[in-house]
Amino acid sequence: MGAVDLDLLEKFGLDPTVLHLNHGAFGVAPITVRREAEAWRDRAERNPNRFNGAELPELVAQARGRAAEWIGVDAESVGWVRNVSEGASAVISSLDLEPGDQIVVCNHGYGAVRMAAEHWATRRGGSVQVADFPLGAEDDEIVAAFSGVCGPRTRLVIVDQITSPTATVLPVAGTAAAVEAPVLVDAAHVPGTLPVDIEGLGAAYWVGNLHKWAFTPRGTALLWTREDLRHRTPPSVLSWQLHDGYAAAFDHPGTGDYSGWLAAPAGLDFWTEVGGWEQIDRQSAMVEAAQKLLADALGTSLDRLPANPAPTMRMVRLPDRLFGDDESETRAGRERLSSQFGIQVPTSRFEGTEVVRIAGAVYNTPDDYERLADALLTIADERS
Ligand SMILES: Cc1ncc(COP(=O)(O)O)c(C=O)c1O
Repeated sequence: MGAVDLDLLEKFGLDPTVLHLNHGAFGVAPITVRREAEAWRDRAERNPNRFNGAELPELVAQARGRAAEWIGVDAESVGWVRNVSEGASAVISSLDLEPGDQIVVCNHGYGAVRMAAEHWATRRGGSVQVADFPLGAEDDEIVAAFSGVCGPRTRLVIVDQITSPTATVLPVAGTAAAVEAPVLVDAAHVPGTLPVDIEGLGAAYWVGNLHKWAFTPRGTALLWTREDLRHRTPPSVLSWQLHDGYAAAFDHPGTGDYSGWLAAPAGLDFWTEVGGWEQIDRQSAMVEAAQKLLADALGTSLDRLPANPAPTMRMVRLPDRLFGDDESETRAGRERLSSQFGIQVPTSRFEGTEVVRIAGAVYNTPDDYERLADALLTIADERS
């Protein structure tokens, strides 16, 4: 068992008195990458007129080109967005929805993206349908759940490639092949954790955050769109480059701070420096062991957990009503772990059971999960 990796915590500027087990929520850029973003901001301020008026378009396009190459797609096929929410909003708002049209999401899907789908669908007199499948469902069952709720009025199917509440890898390609409607892949947790052939998925749109697992500054994400749909998928913020083609239109959402996008390549370099896919394999093995350690310590079941778990996150069931009977009590448990034990980890309910989602980031070590187990056992003892 390795000890807490203070060197790495320091590289990220993370508070060493806190146990950080929720990298998946917001990510964190290492200090060197933050300094790179600062350097871009300083450069912009030295001659704001020249930087913003003349230099910016090429610099932003260059950074996009590097990020596109890193995720394995053509530079012209992706647009910069600040996050998955912004990319999903651009896609959903671009649909010419009519009364009676439907958008399909799933019960493991991300709440904020579902809200955007509900907003646009109901505003146009349509509705959102939910594909329901249980925890631990096999891929066939998941695909059947999606295709089962699709119909002739389905205009978009949103599939989370890695789900947030349940840390499951969903069968995106299988679903895209089984449904007729275009598929939007919510790949918020994918860049840097799951190798993916984006064009080969058979989807219409794919949007992924670089700022979660690829160490770029927060506010850096890419929206890939299939070629035939690009001309009718504008960014959410329309500005001077609107008529310069799909990718360029996304490059310029007006005057602003572009340092995050410009420093994104430094984050991607850091991902390679700390071990790339080999490091992800190590993190994967670590969270796999941690899931078992926690379930054993807490006496909870490992049955019917995701058949294809996320590479760097795992779900663990908590003892019956550890924090309480309803959502607000479960959420209060998260706060208690934070304030009483200094542990950052998300607690939630799924299928009526309280669960915790652990992350394994590059700076985590196996003893981190022992510390979490001790804290959860202390809470269980206090309750009994
Ligand atoms: C599956 C999924 N989709 C979308 C998002 C939203 O990401 P953002 O807040 O960066 O837009 C998240 C955030 O954690 C997520 O887990």
